[in-house]
Amino acid sequence: MTTKDSSGKASSFTALKAPKGVPDYYPPVSAEFHAIKQAFTTAAHNAGYEHIELPIFEETALFARGVGESTDVVSKEMYTFADRGDRSVTLRPEGTAGVMRAVIEHKLDRGQLPVKLTYNGPFFRYERPQAGRYRQLQQVGVEAIGVDDPALDAEVIALAHRCFTSVGLTGFRLELTSLGDSSDRPAYRQRLQDFLATLPLDEATRHRAQINPLRVLDDKRPEMQEMLAEAPLMLDHLSDSSREHFETVTGHLDDMGIEYTINPRMVRGLDYYTKTCFEFVHDGLGAQSGIGGGGRYDGLMAQLGGQDLSGIGFGLGVDRTLLALKAEEVQASTGRRVDVFGVAMGAEAKRTMVGLVDTLRAAGVATDMSYGDRGLKGAMKGADRAGALYALVLGDQELAEGTVVLKDLRAHDQRSLPMESVVDEVLRGVAQEQ
Ligand code: HAM
Repeated sequence: MTTKDSSGKASSFTALKAPKGVPDYYPPVSAEFHAIKQAFTTAAHNAGYEHIELPIFEETALFARGVGESTDVVSKEMYTFADRGDRSVTLRPEGTAGVMRAVIEHKLDRGQLPVKLTYNGPFFRYERPQAGRYRQLQQVGVEAIGVDDPALDAEVIALAHRCFTSVGLTGFRLELTSLGDSSDRPAYRQRLQDFLATLPLDEATRHRAQINPLRVLDDKRPEMQEMLAEAPLMLDHLSDSSREHFETVTGHLDDMGIEYTINPRMVRGLDYYTKTCFEFVHDGLGAQSGIGGGGRYDGLMAQLGGQDLSGIGFGLGVDRTLLALKAEEVQASTGRRVDVFGVAMGAEAKRTMVGLVDTLRAAGVATDMSYGDRGLKGAMKGADRAGALYALVLGDQELAEGTVVLKDLRAHDQRSLPMESVVDEVLRGVAQEQ
């Protein structure tokens, strides 16, 4: 195949594409993507969560043990391969297991509890790509480890809620349930299995009912949903302590004015969950409506070889939040690439402008300038495209006078300033914007 390169010349190489189901984010949308990630991370830091940077790939056993062999994520969706040393490694499909592994390995749980950590970055699931469902997905997550306090559940849920509102999202709802704990789960599991045994299930579903009956409740086929209408629900069979825990969580949410609906049929895709579980759902997204989810995972640390400590956290989907904002026609970023844009006419002026731009950048002002030999009109277009607040224009006349023209691009006015005062003047103007 022959393609043409940017200069129009024919090239005999085939143009390459990103792998299927993997999104690229490039300007201007990448600014939105970045703003969402930043807003979520800032909200987490604000609530006392510290950053943790984790490997993109881990030993495969971590996910098999941590997330659960019977989940779709582990059994069907993992990017697993043997490295050159013949070790089985897996691109992380989610963040919680890796955080737990690091907490145990580096004994982070031997100090003040809870350990509060936040992370962000790409995760990998070999799912069938469709709108809002990618094979490389991005999350911002938090995990709070070591204290089994319903107030901490409420904090994590309220924090997720704040993350979404901080980027201007409004059309989402919160669903909540409790999955019980190790004291009430086995009896409920048996009760559900007994119920499922009375139904005319197909072979695969019968098998699923044996290994993970809770997952059967998630079967979306209408005939199954009909049969499952009378299925016993965990929420109706909680022990007193699980019930009290759940009621205290909802009490805190009520106090904070956070609205929720109880969804006793919620099935999370990962096996480690206990007690409080939640999902944030946005109706503007079609089938892939989950913009974030999480819950408590009280047995996970022990299962991964650590102390028997509890934990709770969430993962918020950055890709889906971006789509949700688009559906609501809300922008998360200012749309401003830089605050100031320099325009120099002539070689001498350019030399001075390069220095001025460098000084402004050193003072923390986001600044760019026009390059090449564009005329004034073309260069001013560059300033507009950058979304700049101000343009600084320098030509022969200004050089001779020792001045610079400061154009306020929104007010559409301009004034001539002495060269010495321009940095202070720009700093003042930009500070007013923040
Ligand atoms: P999760 O529900 O599997 O939870 O994923 C969290 C969020 O990631 C989802 O709500 C969704 O927004 C996004 N997401 C998941 N899969 C895809 C995909 N294929 N394409 C686009 N976005 C996707 C977890 O991963 C848990 N580790 C969360 C957690 C932390 N629970 C406790 N602590």
